[in-house]
Amino acid sequence: MDKIIIEGGNTRLQGEVTIEGAKNAVLPLLAATILPVEGKTVLKNVPILSDVFTMNHVVRGLNIAVDFDEALNQVTVDATGAILDTAPYEYVSQMRASIVVLGPILARNGHAKVSMPGGCTIGSRPIDLHLKGLEAMGASIHQEGGDISATAEKLKGAHFYMDFPSVGATQNLMMAATLAEGTTVLENAAREPEIVDLANLLNKMGARVSGAGTETLTIRGVAELHGAEHNVVQDRIEAGTFMVAAAMTSGNVLIKDAVWEHNRPLISKLREMGVDVREEEAGIRVKSDVSKLKPVTVKTLPHPGFPTDMQAQFTALMAVVKGESTMIETVFENRFQHLEEMRRMGLHSEILRDTAMIHGGQRLQGAQVMSTDLRASAALILTGLVAQGQTKVGQLSHLDRGYYQFHEKLAQLGADIRRESED
Ligand code: EPU
Repeated sequence: MDKIIIEGGNTRLQGEVTIEGAKNAVLPLLAATILPVEGKTVLKNVPILSDVFTMNHVVRGLNIAVDFDEALNQVTVDATGAILDTAPYEYVSQMRASIVVLGPILARNGHAKVSMPGGCTIGSRPIDLHLKGLEAMGASIHQEGGDISATAEKLKGAHFYMDFPSVGATQNLMMAATLAEGTTVLENAAREPEIVDLANLLNKMGARVSGAGTETLTIRGVAELHGAEHNVVQDRIEAGTFMVAAAMTSGNVLIKDAVWEHNRPLISKLREMGVDVREEEAGIRVKSDVSKLKPVTVKTLPHPGFPTDMQAQFTALMAVVKGESTMIETVFENRFQHLEEMRRMGLHSEILRDTAMIHGGQRLQGAQVMSTDLRASAALILTGLVAQGQTKVGQLSHLDRGYYQFHEKLAQLGADIRRESED
């Protein structure tokens, strides 16, 4: 069992950091590689993460050739020829995001069987919108033995209003609709940059998707798709994590090539706190003096609201800013578990339903803590940078799902941090 060990208290992060391609973009992009019946698809700027390996397994399991050249950060997929229609429990259970293969397999094969994704610590995460949308497009859906089975000889374009702008449901339905007969309109669709990235790849494959990045997506069905080349968009959550790391350590860090537009909700809250965030030619620079920062209230929302995937890291920043800050989590119902772990480090906080009050600026002390999910792991490591003494963070399988060389990057910025195997 690996642990990350941080000697904290005097860290001031300084320098430049490079950001990987986005995990939450590449997973649906890999699902989209199932669609083309002709030509290879090449994805570039692919991050080396355990979730990417899992998704590669899911796609390979459909009898599709997937080659991951890690030295080049490039995945090449050849989905020509007959493909299978079943995504087995073995991989789907490891990663909820694998549910996004349902739409592409169904659209291409007329039938798809995907295991129901299992439980999740951050919330209940139903998939009703994925299934209702496919039903609106004419699919018949059955659930039995833990599997979802979807059938439609040919999907039909439909108008579908999403009760909530679910990221995964928007992706699943967008991919399914590319090969449907007629036009599909998805209203109240998710608007995340990762949705735009997927639409861009689909259009390069010959699909006709418009409106990505707005709340109405229109997809005109085409007969078939072909392979394409695509660069994965930068990971705005990894970039945001380093912005917060710089802010909470009174640092001065350039986040190279970071995209202002994608990080706008986070940047506006950092600035409200008093952090100096500037756009430079080479990226976004974050400078701060923690002693001068002010507490704020933050509410997570679907994009372009404040991202739930930055909530845990931002509470770590709130913990070092003197005064009462408030975090309201509206996207997932159980995403404050990191606060319980941070309590072990001396954090004073109260949680009432979706709202956490953080009494910031108290003395934090290093402790042994456990990651409870991916973003919690980053938040705990960042807290370790500012807590006095040694912090050991365990359960790193969560971290490895979404951050490439996290501790190495922090060490390069001046943190006293290492990873050890403690068997
Ligand atoms: N929801 C429904 N019904 C559905 C689908 C979703 O009620 O059919 C609800 C969920 O229960 C949740 C909310 O809608 O309360 C948001 O879920 P969404 O479908 O938007 O999330 P997701 O597609 O499952 C992606 C990211 C998450 C990120 C969320 C929200 C990927 C692979 N995952 O999940 O990323 O938190 O969007 O932005 O893109 C992470 O990276 O740490 C992570 C959890």
